[in-house]
Amino acid sequence: MAERSRPRRAVDHRHRLRLRRLLVLLPLALLLSQLPALLLRRANSLGRRCLPGAPDRLVRDPRLSLAIVTLADEGASGSRARRSFRGVLAATARNKRAYAAAHGYRLVALPASAVDPRRPPSWSKVLALRAHLRRHHWLFWNDADTLVTNPEIPLERILFSVIGHSDFDDSPDLVLTEDFGGVNAGVFFIRRSKWSERFLDTWWNQTSFVQFSSTKSGDNAALKHLIDHLSAEEMQAHVRIAKMQCLFNSYPWVLTWKSAHRLIFHLPTTWKAYWIFRGLFRWRLHDSFCWFG
Ligand SMILES: *[C@@H]1O[C@H](CO)[C@@H](O)[C@H](O)[C@H]1NC(C)=O
Repeated sequence: MAERSRPRRAVDHRHRLRLRRLLVLLPLALLLSQLPALLLRRANSLGRRCLPGAPDRLVRDPRLSLAIVTLADEGASGSRARRSFRGVLAATARNKRAYAAAHGYRLVALPASAVDPRRPPSWSKVLALRAHLRRHHWLFWNDADTLVTNPEIPLERILFSVIGHSDFDDSPDLVLTEDFGGVNAGVFFIRRSKWSERFLDTWWNQTSFVQFSSTKSGDNAALKHLIDHLSAEEMQAHVRIAKMQCLFNSYPWVLTWKSAHRLIFHLPTTWKAYWIFRGLFRWRLHDSFCWFG
């Protein structure tokens, strides 16, 4: 009798220990999982500055023509957009149309017919930009799965805050943001110039980067490659990378193993990049742009 109950008691004891450990760890894990959300939700009130204060005279230049260029058609949006949210593209198109109308920008929404079927759709941004480059001073490329989250901020204010002045002739040609992996091709500015034309042609010519996988199309890798191989002089003359990713290419932070790992090991990069969005269509007007990755 005694011999049989001893192991049972040992098992009970072990269960109790495990339960107690769980009771301690569970709230701790819950608390930890909420910490980044608390931190990032309040990032801007905790002192993060995505948009540096620009003097008023830098804010608008009515002579400049700006166009937002994007992919409008759901059928042509490729695997990434299909993977995200159904109907989001219609909402993001509405969102951009309203923003463009409010500030007097042209909105160029690329239809499915403008997509080159020989490559994943996101490569066609290069063609679209190339085709419209001469018609405007600046083009602002937006991947289809992006939203203007703070429509009060005009593009000029964002652009000039990176460039440091508003002189078109003296401006760099490419204004980008960087994330964990380097420069990001989801949202960026390109200026009307011979250099930009050549750059876009060269980018399109990076055929060895074309990929048909479900998550990668290669256009971003090709851009990264080109940027990495520019000389220091060329970089200085033609490319600017915003100090804060959240200036115009914020990513929404959601808890995953990867994002938790990055939060711990790359806190400064996370801090520069993320915002918390609460519910699909109730964004906080924190930063300028958000990319639904
Ligand atoms: C891109 O490739 C085409 C066709 O091979 C070539 O004619 C053109 O000069 C290339 N352009 C650049 C900028 O590399």
